[in-house]
Amino acid sequence: MLQKPRGTRDFLPDEMEARRTIEWRMREVARCWGYREVCTPEFENLELFTMRSGEGIVEEMYIFEDKGGRKLALRPEITAAVIRMFINEAKVAPKPLRWCYFADCFRYERPQKGRYRQFWQFGVELIGADTARADAEVIMLAADMLNATGIAYDLKVGHLSFMKNLLKDLEYSAQRRMMAHLDKKDFDGLKNTLESMNKADLCNSLIALVNCRDLAEAFEISGPVPEKERINQTIEILDAAGIEYSLNFGIARGLDYYTGMVFEGFAQNLGAENQILGGGAYRLAHLFGGDDVASCGFALGFDRVMVSLGEKIHRKDTVVAVVCTNECRNHALEVARIFRRAGIRSEMDLMGRGLGAQIAHASKSADFAVVIGQRETESGNVTLKNLHTGEQKTLDPESAIAEVVSHGARR
Ligand code: HAM
Repeated sequence: MLQKPRGTRDFLPDEMEARRTIEWRMREVARCWGYREVCTPEFENLELFTMRSGEGIVEEMYIFEDKGGRKLALRPEITAAVIRMFINEAKVAPKPLRWCYFADCFRYERPQKGRYRQFWQFGVELIGADTARADAEVIMLAADMLNATGIAYDLKVGHLSFMKNLLKDLEYSAQRRMMAHLDKKDFDGLKNTLESMNKADLCNSLIALVNCRDLAEAFEISGPVPEKERINQTIEILDAAGIEYSLNFGIARGLDYYTGMVFEGFAQNLGAENQILGGGAYRLAHLFGGDDVASCGFALGFDRVMVSLGEKIHRKDTVVAVVCTNECRNHALEVARIFRRAGIRSEMDLMGRGLGAQIAHASKSADFAVVIGQRETESGNVTLKNLHTGEQKTLDPESAIAEVVSHGARR
């Protein structure tokens, strides 16, 4: 028997319904904040991701050559693609641009629960606003979106300027290496690399910074940072808005394009793969041939949110089975059409079963049977049978629809 590729999943209807329910909650939040959906290709020129996404991502990419010899990659994330699209299609549009996406990404990682080779992100990108208000808006939106899913989470907010200030005497590539150690909390690796560069004196300050949860203390550890005013303003806005978060100056992020504010969200009930969201302020546009436009955004790991929610999401449609005798099939089709027009999921027998067998089958999969026989065809009424209680009523179609709808609302 052929199997699906490792690290991918199939989704049965129950699971898809739960996923769509949560997806739409996220879409609603994004819409209310003014973020409009965009869509980019599933694959891009490889170069787009090798320029500034960082070694980790590059190693995990699905890379292939097309028949024309072009080097392409399945997108491992969507931010770079959105900024490419902004430069190609919308660079003269009035700023800021508020865009969002819900799309799949591909990373060749070691699969486990919450870590897949194909996974979905709900992301937002705020393009062209270089202010504390912009940084704060994106964090507030992230909090709103996480709240809308109903999961219990911790939100951690940091800023790269502290780390960068301590590392400012190192070359860019060495800085990146240190930040990768810090991102993974790999203090031994950090110490060894610093020692090999005769910079062991930095180790204690960097570790103190990672463990620091207080803004004033972080300023003291790192020395004067040019972004101090902006950082203070961002924090003030978040506090005034009552956002629940903690400060964490050890966030370095796995991708290389971040420049300032960074933040991450963690699900409280997940183990190893508990990071459900990551984002921050970044600059990519100038690398792709545009002006140096400041941007800021985040992506929510949709599959991890679903793992965190577990069995909690049960959005089951109320299901009606329109059952009938063979002679009344045309009238039954008309009745099913009336129910469907009212938005009710209505199914009919396709197997040529008798009336009794149709009801028996419906009792396994439906909430109501709408019975159409000779009497109903002549009167224009329907017999509505509640398949949970066995209760049965003769009603006109509108009243039957009202009864089904009110049953759905009570669930
Ligand atoms: P990221 O942290 O690489 O950031 O990914 C965002 C989220 O995607 C993670 O927090 C995690 O929940 C989820 N995720 C990552 N890899 C996997 C995987 N293999 N399986 C399941 N879920 C996964 C970005 O991708 C940036 N583009 C975010 C961003 C947007 N920054 C600014 N704008």
